Amino acid sequence: MQLKFIKLTFFILSSAILQLCFSTKAQEIYDQQVEEILARMTLDEKIGQLVQIVGVDGYREELIRQGKTGSILFGNDGPEEVNKIQRIAVEESRLGIPLIFATDVIHGCQTIFPVPLAEASSWNPELVKTASDIAAFEAASMGIRWTFAPMVDIAHDPRWGRIVEGFGEDPYLGGNFAAAKVKGFQGENGLDKTQIAATSKHYIAYGGAEGGRDYNSVDISERTLREVYLPPFHSAVQNNVASIMSSFNDLNGIPSSANYFTLTEILRNEWNWDGVVVSDWNSVGELVYHGFAKNKEEAAFLGFNAGVTIDMVGDTIDGNVYLPNLKNLVERGRIPIEKIDEAVRYVLQMKFKLGLFENPYVDVKFFEQNDLKKSYKDSIALQLANESIVLLKNENNLLPLNKNIKSVALIGPLADNQEDLLASWAAFGDEENVVTVLQGLKNILGDDTDINFTKGCNINDEDTSGYEEAIEISKVSDVVILVVGEEREMSGEAASKTNLDIPAVQENLIKRIYATEKPVIVVLMNGRPLTINWISENIPAVVEAWFLGDQTGNAISEVLFGDYNPSGKLPVTFPRSTGQIPIYYYQKSTGRPFEEEDKFTSKYLDSPNTPLYPFGFGLSYTSFSYENIEVDKAIINKNDSLNVSVDVTNIGKFAGNEVVQLYIQDVVASVTRPVKQLKGFEKINLQPGATRTVSFKITTDMLSFLDRDLKSRVEPGRFKVMIGGNSEDLISTSFEVIE
Ligand code: NOJ
Repeated sequence: MQLKFIKLTFFILSSAILQLCFSTKAQEIYDQQVEEILARMTLDEKIGQLVQIVGVDGYREELIRQGKTGSILFGNDGPEEVNKIQRIAVEESRLGIPLIFATDVIHGCQTIFPVPLAEASSWNPELVKTASDIAAFEAASMGIRWTFAPMVDIAHDPRWGRIVEGFGEDPYLGGNFAAAKVKGFQGENGLDKTQIAATSKHYIAYGGAEGGRDYNSVDISERTLREVYLPPFHSAVQNNVASIMSSFNDLNGIPSSANYFTLTEILRNEWNWDGVVVSDWNSVGELVYHGFAKNKEEAAFLGFNAGVTIDMVGDTIDGNVYLPNLKNLVERGRIPIEKIDEAVRYVLQMKFKLGLFENPYVDVKFFEQNDLKKSYKDSIALQLANESIVLLKNENNLLPLNKNIKSVALIGPLADNQEDLLASWAAFGDEENVVTVLQGLKNILGDDTDINFTKGCNINDEDTSGYEEAIEISKVSDVVILVVGEEREMSGEAASKTNLDIPAVQENLIKRIYATEKPVIVVLMNGRPLTINWISENIPAVVEAWFLGDQTGNAISEVLFGDYNPSGKLPVTFPRSTGQIPIYYYQKSTGRPFEEEDKFTSKYLDSPNTPLYPFGFGLSYTSFSYENIEVDKAIINKNDSLNVSVDVTNIGKFAGNEVVQLYIQDVVASVTRPVKQLKGFEKINLQPGATRTVSFKITTDMLSFLDRDLKSRVEPGRFKVMIGGNSEDLISTSFEVIE
């Protein structure tokens, strides 16, 4: 009877909700429905909503039937399987509360787009939003309504393998992509059935792992936390991200998955955010290993009290933290039932927003009828792959190559490789869909050019038996394209490295090919900045392709042969050596800024301070000049704004895109400020000879910083404004702020 009543209420109110989307009215209706359900739930059922299980077997089916789980990770092999499992929850559990199915949809679901670090190289959040929207559609059509993306961890350390999953080193750029991904996954007007709940992760400061070793501890000031690591999360929250994942790492002595300050004081009290906090994989249980909780029960107490809503992996021998312990803790009065209710509310709200109460099942017909065209998805994947490629070096305009070329030697273990190109977290991507570079070249060159292909060596072993053939085909070809780099497993989770060189077997191959004196182009595929000094010094043309997903070969070939003029810019600094790490562009000046002639200034004895390639760097087949930087006011009041403009001219022969970057420095402040910080960017397209005046509005929030009490404020004084095509080659002007 009760169940019927609930179902009826849902039915009556559901159409109203559809129309109202996320209006206050809709929120009130959700609230009312949530309260109705909550009032009927037993303690076991409430705790069940806070438990996420992994996969489904007989035992777990029983948990679902008893209402002892609210969501499933990796439980879905397509809509039929999802609907079958969902039926147990909806029809066989007492209250019929639907499950949410979650999977890591990181850079595509079935259609695989470039990895996030590559996406960030496009400096085109709008395009990334479109790609994420496609990923959401594909995921939803399979029954996945919750993804654990975007990863918005700032990383200064390329030894950390997970740098590939994020948007690089800059909080402002990261915030832009965080917003784009959330909007792409969730839509901007409420979640319809083609969209999925996003998760920004890993909260917090996971990318700051000491020594770049994954899962390692982080010790940073609250200032650094707020200035560097929090902004992309804040941006996700401002864009209504549905959930946030608490991370594995210890932060200043308190593990992030038991950190009341970050999980409750910042997320709930400061930011007023009302989404779901999901733990990372057993990260609450791991409080025991941190030496922070004496046993699992204490871990459950600490994690829950700090603000972790859902325990991921709540069902395994190792991970069973909330399921067996929360009930005791409530019954013994250690956790007030009101706190459990509050957590359950967050979960039920999320399910309502996803429309799961109205439509718990995948509407297979709908997805079949409205399926996105493969040609559309491929075209977005290609465009994003094109825009993600960064041209690092192009001596004597070796690139673009002429399509009339007679022969090409294509060499390298990644040149005809499909599997590695899917990279970390390829969800339901299929390597069969990956266009290799070999295929891409065939597509663009047809039969008129001989493509002489050999692998030359594997990615990472000592077998050099393929070198001779590689050298032979180089000798008989007009140009050599070498496709080298990392295996997919060399970056991503648990893939930290101390040596960032290209594996020796490949570097030696490159040297042997170089010795043939043929023109050589190196195409890099990798999930992190590598130390590529020799290549950068000797090889005339170097292309950073990261991992580009399905359209890899087409995108790279279009760049190599000039059908697409590269425009990608590095979202992360390339060090010369691991000894320079951590290295990032927004460093402080120090009391002894570098001076060539003065030993007692901040420098290394054995290396320049400068990176091999700076943040924001990337070449084009054309060149852009920057002139006439001007502010429209020399002096502004503290609450005022001003405009800065610059003339950008395409002074080369090709039409091209340029990412115009705005940096600002607060020259003297009561807390020392970085030498520059990215505060704006615009990607423009210019025909040869054309000039565009690009302007940026500089508002107070772009000038503010956290004072000694960590309060945001603008201080009077001089501000330097810098504009250019990367973080080093900049022209500048300044203005004054007065009280
Ligand atoms: C552990 C990873 O750290 C996290 O990023 C991921 O979302 C979960 N596993 C679930 O797969």
